[in-house]
Amino acid sequence: MYPQATCPLLLIFFVLFMLKKVYRSMNSNLQSQLTTLLDIHELLAPAGTSLFSQLEARAAPNVRLVRAFDIHNTFTSADPSIHAVFVKKTKSLISPPSNNSFDWLRFSHVAVDAISAYLPNAMLAPVAFDTVMRTVTLRTILVGLLGVDPSEVDIDFPAVDFVTRGINELWRLSKTTSALPPNLLSEVNEHLRHWVSDVPNPLEFIIPAYETMWRVVALTVALTHSDAKTRENFRDYLEQPFLERFRHFPHSGPSVEAIIQEILRLYPPTRHISRTIAEIPVPSVPSFLGCRFSRTVTKVADIETIQRDASVWGAFPHVFDPMRHHPERCVAQHWAPQAAAIIAAAILGRELEIVEGEKLGGREGWEGWTIRDIDDAQSASRMD
Ligand code: HEM
Repeated sequence: MYPQATCPLLLIFFVLFMLKKVYRSMNSNLQSQLTTLLDIHELLAPAGTSLFSQLEARAAPNVRLVRAFDIHNTFTSADPSIHAVFVKKTKSLISPPSNNSFDWLRFSHVAVDAISAYLPNAMLAPVAFDTVMRTVTLRTILVGLLGVDPSEVDIDFPAVDFVTRGINELWRLSKTTSALPPNLLSEVNEHLRHWVSDVPNPLEFIIPAYETMWRVVALTVALTHSDAKTRENFRDYLEQPFLERFRHFPHSGPSVEAIIQEILRLYPPTRHISRTIAEIPVPSVPSFLGCRFSRTVTKVADIETIQRDASVWGAFPHVFDPMRHHPERCVAQHWAPQAAAIIAAAILGRELEIVEGEKLGGREGWEGWTIRDIDDAQSASRMD
């Protein structure tokens, strides 16, 4: 009696098992692109989902960053305690618990020192625009945010140039299946650990703080350098780097804040945000069967498309118009625009000759853009 009854049951389980295997293999690497505000909101701020599930959904597509950078922070881990500690630490960097307000005046001096330290390289001949943007931003973040003391450790240009190129290259390769250059990460880390000695893995902080920031700085300088009034506005802000000045609309034209917000809207440094989630393809299937057939889908929020959507931004969404505004979900959403503006202002404060390439770049694509220091007075005094 028994053997006869178990046989068909075994057969059913075997068929279900095989179907599940075939189904899963057919559905591996599934991706879907989300382009509506509602879908993107549901993906990034899902109601009734635990913090662990949200972190897990973010960590899965970011596994490439573990391979490339060996980082184990809240972007690559689903552990809520890692999230709590990391968010607390980054928040304490941008609003120090001692006086609860960031020292913007010191930050602006650090940015001015950074451009003064590295621009002499562009005195005799033009240098690549993106090289200057990357190195000045990294130095400002190291000194102005992470507290590195340049009088104690030499943050020399060739090393910073090497590190920023290395980060770019590792980021590019992280999106491919290509092997990583064997020693690149360890050489990048060697420099970073020399500068930032009180943090076990400085890249855990440098990736979120610097990698998006330098591209905002580059776009800000590229889009504003030829407009005298805007440069003057940035120069005033550099002298008084405080919130009222950041938000101040001069007689004609936008505030510095509006310019940065518009750059973040039109050229979002994070163009896509991915979450990998388990999905039951037919919701009406009983749950005991549904979960057996669940599949893993990576949903990609197309931030760039939504931030250029006419139904959200009205007519002319592709036009650079700083008179509009947009918030970001990021611990540094208020700090980062001010910081980017100060670094850009320090660069714009110099007498520069910027030759424009054919199009604006992102992480790459700045071919044809060069920058040359033409501040005669300062060049002369440096040569003395
Ligand atoms: C303009 C520059 C910046 C942009 C465009 C930006 C953008 C973003 C975005 C889109 C996210 C959400 C990512 C996701 O959930 O997948 C994020 C999260 C985050 N950002 Fe930024 N960010 C910038 C600067 C910074 C800086 C300077 C810091 C550190 C001081 C920072 C620290 C963080 C942290 C810790 C999170 C994770 C927050 C959490 O999990 O609750 N960001 N950022």
